[in-house]
Amino acid sequence: MNLFEQIGSETIEKVITEFYIRAFDDIIIGHFFFGKDRLDITKKQIDFAIAMLGGPRNYNGKPLETAHEALSIRPPHFGRRQVLMADVLSECGVEEDLAKGWLTMEERLRPLIFKKAIKPDCNHSK
Ligand code: HEM
Repeated sequence: MNLFEQIGSETIEKVITEFYIRAFDDIIIGHFFFGKDRLDITKKQIDFAIAMLGGPRNYNGKPLETAHEALSIRPPHFGRRQVLMADVLSECGVEEDLAKGWLTMEERLRPLIFKKAIKPDCNHSK
C-alpha cells in the first residue's frame, strides 16, 4: 500500500487544512501568505499532496517552481514549514513512519521551492 492508501484522503485533507491555518498565522512564515486566499491554496495543496503520496492526480495548480519563484523563500522558511507539518501530522494521529515518509517526499521538493541564487558578480567596475 502506498502512503496515500495508508494515510487516507480524509486525514490528508485534515492535515493540510490545519497546516495552512497555522502557516497563515505563523510568526516566521506567515508574511509570505499576506493577502493570499487560504481556501484556494489549501484546496490546491490537498490535490498536490494526494498526487504526491500516490493517489489520484487531480492537481491543476501552477508548477511548484512558478508558484514560489517570486517569494524569496530561504532554507529556514522551508525548515519552519516542516516543523509545522510534523506537529500537525502528529496531532492528526498520522503514524510516525507514515509522517516521516510524507516529510521525506516534501524534502525532495526543496530545490523547486527556493528562489534561484543570484550569482555574485565580483567584477564590478569601480
Ligand atoms: C514541499 C514544500 C511545498 C509544497 C509541496 C508547496 C505547495 C504549494 C502549492 C501546491 C501551491 C499552490 C500553487 C498554485 O496556486 O497554483 C503553493 C503556493 C504557495 N506556497 Fe507553497 N509549497 C511548499 C513550500 C512552501 C514554503 C516553504 C512556503 C513559504 C514559507 C510556501 C509558500 C507558498 C505561498 C505564499 C503560496 C501562494 C503563492 C501565490 O498564490 O502567489 N510554500 N505551494
